[in-house]
Amino acid sequence: MLKTLFRHPAELSSTEMPPTGDGLTAESPSPAISKPAAEAPQFNPKVCWWKNADWLAKFDRHIQPDGFGGRFHPHRILDRRFTLTQFARTARSLRGSTAECGVFKGIGSALICETLRGTYHESERHFGFDSFEGLPETGANDGQWKRGDLADPVTTAQEHLAEFPFVQLVKGWLPATLAVARQHRFRMVHVDVDIEQATWDCLSFFYSRVVSGGLFLIDDYGFHSCPGARQATEAFLQDKPETLIELTTGQAAFFKR
Ligand SMILES: C[S@@+](CC[C@H](N)C(=O)[O-])C[C@H]1O[C@@H](n2cnc3c(N)ncnc32)[C@H](O)[C@@H]1O
Repeated sequence: MLKTLFRHPAELSSTEMPPTGDGLTAESPSPAISKPAAEAPQFNPKVCWWKNADWLAKFDRHIQPDGFGGRFHPHRILDRRFTLTQFARTARSLRGSTAECGVFKGIGSALICETLRGTYHESERHFGFDSFEGLPETGANDGQWKRGDLADPVTTAQEHLAEFPFVQLVKGWLPATLAVARQHRFRMVHVDVDIEQATWDCLSFFYSRVVSGGLFLIDDYGFHSCPGARQATEAFLQDKPETLIELTTGQAAFFKR
């Protein structure tokens, strides 16, 4: 089972590669994939995390859908998944609900819930917000994204998250749907909506509701395919005291003061 996660990108034919949403398609694979170095590993072979059997055993079944039917995602998404779980761990000792804005198939939410399993008090929830109809009308700063991209029916996420009774999926358009969570306090918010307006709306709604020491993880900040997400994050934090940490994975995080 685990082995399927670690297929080398060189093993993928161009027709096997799924659309990636970052401008690279099966017809235009990245140079690194079309001309892989003979022995190039997926990750730095000297670094331990991607061979951590304990971590893989715990999260493997949640991450499998990233593998596009057993094939490993060519863009090394596993490092983002690992980073998400590591940041989620920082919220274990805090009180509050958690949220993911942009749920898609439910993988990110499952990783958050698995990491924080056993720490949700009775009134605390993991909220998952998504249209489950893909992106809304996009803006001038949203690169190649267009309305309807990333659509996946809510049933996919529901099935994937069924084992977590504290999950509340909220189907509909942001920011209107956020109202259901207005009375909650949050310890972690995963913002993964790819586009400028929704990123701004989510940061605006959750900022005052996240407890001190709680965290925001913005999945799309460092991706050239999501310039709007970066712009919204930077504009939002301009007059705030928090320091944004840009990560090598393309994610960025800040801890609420
Ligand atoms: C990249 S996917 C999320 C991936 C997911 N977080 C994961 O870890 O696999 C982005 C999602 O954001 C949703 N989305 C973007 N803008 C939205 C909006 N304004 N209202 C509702 N959903 C939105 C899309 O429907 C899509 O499912």
